Amino acid sequence: MIFFSNPKAQYLAYKNEIDAAIENVLSGTQFILGQNVASFEEEFAKYIGTDHAIGVGNGTDAICLALNALDIGPGNEVIAPSYTAVATIAAIKMAGAIPVLVDIDPNYYTLSPEAIEQAVTEQTRAIIAVHLYGQSADMNKVLTIAKRQKLKVIEDCAQAHGAIYENKRVGSIGDIGCFSFYPTKNLGALGDGGAVVTSDGVIASHIYKLREYGWDENRISQKSGRNSRLDELQAAVLRVKLPYLDADTKKRKKIAENYDKAFQSLPLVCPPVRDRCSHVYHLYVITVNNRNELVQFLKQNNIFPGIHYSTPVHKMPTYTDSLPIGANLTQTDFLADKVVSLPIYPELGTNEQDRVISTIREFYLP
Ligand SMILES: Cc1ncc(COP(=O)(O)O)c(C=O)c1O
Repeated sequence: MIFFSNPKAQYLAYKNEIDAAIENVLSGTQFILGQNVASFEEEFAKYIGTDHAIGVGNGTDAICLALNALDIGPGNEVIAPSYTAVATIAAIKMAGAIPVLVDIDPNYYTLSPEAIEQAVTEQTRAIIAVHLYGQSADMNKVLTIAKRQKLKVIEDCAQAHGAIYENKRVGSIGDIGCFSFYPTKNLGALGDGGAVVTSDGVIASHIYKLREYGWDENRISQKSGRNSRLDELQAAVLRVKLPYLDADTKKRKKIAENYDKAFQSLPLVCPPVRDRCSHVYHLYVITVNNRNELVQFLKQNNIFPGIHYSTPVHKMPTYTDSLPIGANLTQTDFLADKVVSLPIYPELGTNEQDRVISTIREFYLP
């Protein structure tokens, strides 16, 4: 069976090093916020190109804590795309702010700058730019709007570890970058984990406090924080994997290249890549007209694709009232009926890639 992602294969690829790192933590005495977390924070900040990285419990918390650190909460609106993992929007609600869901750009599937412009009101405080599927949002346009409207920019980088937008890694472009290390992510832990990155020292110092009950150095809560810490075991695993991230991304790109070439003449759309950007292919998402039939055919052949996403957030019951007045989410609704995520992960062998390719060719050219 071939699945669209395979975190177990990633563990096995680095098993010896990961097992040794875990053993090392277990033989020590500090399981929370010790040397592994501190070192990982330093190494990850260096990799992304920011002054600070703060390990937190998961990617959803990372976004919520970013909003907390910017003092964005009740009564404030936050603009984000409806076409994203629901976690992006759940984080806005967790912060007590009002999510305002906008449409995507039909070419690259990331949030539409025109839709942002139309959604800004007196209450808007921030934009969350989601780097969907492994590719950066249109950051120049997002930053221009943010500057003009005096809004903060939070990058949701959960699907785009290492992706580059015009020579900068995502996470280092806006005010704050938020990462998830959920096991299927391009940099995945063996459990939950996340990080907030920023080069703003004031924001960083807020996040350090907010992730631990709002404590100051004397363990006195100066603000109302929460418990959202990255633990030593996950940090130790991430430290093993981080040095391999670029090599793993290269493997993902090679698979994407093979798929792009093989599907050229078929009636489907391969993932579009923005100029001067590097896509890290967290997901390889094609769009097709006959999704149900294709997915069924793939499953009959023991290939299990994903669908990201069949229900955009604005169609989920708790978020149906989160649209700006007069909003039109045509592109989001259009895409939701068409996307299929094909298997892609660094350990996907050439035989398995060939099987995916030949099965799809057989579907279209029986
Ligand atoms: C775009 C996006 N944002 C946020 C998250 C939330 O990450 P986590 O599952 O670590 O809370 C995810 C992960 O699913 C995601 O894909």
